[in-house]
Parts: sequence; C-alpha cells; structure tokens
Amino acid sequence: MPLERTLSMIKPDAVGKQLIGTILQRFEQAGFTVVAAKLMQLTREQAEGFYAEHEGRDFYEPLIEFMTSGPTMALVLQGEDIIPAYRELIGKTDPTQAAAGTIRADFAESTRLNAVHGSDSPESAAREIAYFFVDDEICVKA
Ligand code: PPS
Repeated sequence: MPLERTLSMIKPDAVGKQLIGTILQRFEQAGFTVVAAKLMQLTREQAEGFYAEHEGRDFYEPLIEFMTSGPTMALVLQGEDIIPAYRELIGKTDPTQAAAGTIRADFAESTRLNAVHGSDSPESAAREIAYFFVDDEICVKA
C-alpha cells in the first residue's frame, strides 16, 4: 500500500495540558512517522484561512477564538493509508461520540476543545499540509 501523508494539529487545549509528548507517542505507536513539525501561535488570519470552509457556521467564531488562544503544534504524519487510520486513532469530533481509547475520548473536553485535528481526505491533506509547510520543511526520509 502506498505511503500517504496527513496534516495533524495538536490544538491549544492539549498543548496547554502538556499533552504534546503523550499524543506524539500515540502517533508513533500507531506506526505513523513524523516527517515535519512546528509549534505555532496561529494568527487570526491563519486560523480563518485554515477553516475558511466553515465561515458562516455558528461554531466558526468560537473555533477561531479557540485556535488563536494558545500554541498549536502542526505536524505532517506519514504512513500506509494514514488518512482513515489517523481519523480512527483520534476518534469522532465530539468526544462523547468518540470510541473508547481514541485520543479524543481520552483527552478532549468538547467538540471545540477536542485536542487534535486531522485531514478528512487526500485533497484536504494536500491543501492543509501546503498551508503550513513548504516542501523543504518536510523530511522525505524520517
Ligand atoms: S462538519 O460539519 O462535519 O464539516 O464540521 P465538523 O467536522 O464537525 O467540525 C469542523 C471543525 O469545527 C470544530 N467545531 C467547533 N468549534 C467550536 N465550537 C463548536 N461548537 C464546534 N463544533 C465543531 C471542530 O472541532 C472541527 O475542527 P477540526 O480542527 O476540523 O477537527
């Protein structure tokens, strides 16, 4: 099966709870390889651009406020069939619906404070990776 990449974010709630290491361990234990990473304080413009498809939804403004409330770690993860595998590992957006043992079931507080982001399709992954990383920042052999 070909290697695929996804854009992951460890969101401000999880960074603030000192969960970066714990969550990275879950990623690596699942067999995913970190091929790029950066800790960023998102500007409003960056957050609005990233979530532009949700503009106008009732949750858009609270989402932007949350995502600019503290540092976020953006990562590019690589693995076989990683987009569905990663989404299974993190669990559903709403932690009350997330399967036991998933990252969101274990660490998310709400649909907003939900610890991590993941791309939902290969097209989204390509767009989202390019949103935060230039090619030179992605290690081909990790
Ligand atoms: S949808 O309708 O399936 O497209 O949206 P969904 O995937 O459920 O959510 C998209 C992102 O919006 C965040 N979200 C919220 N933020 C703040 N407040 C509320 N109420 C809220 N509801 C949804 C959710 O965490 C998703 O963020 P990402 O980073 O995409 O996981």
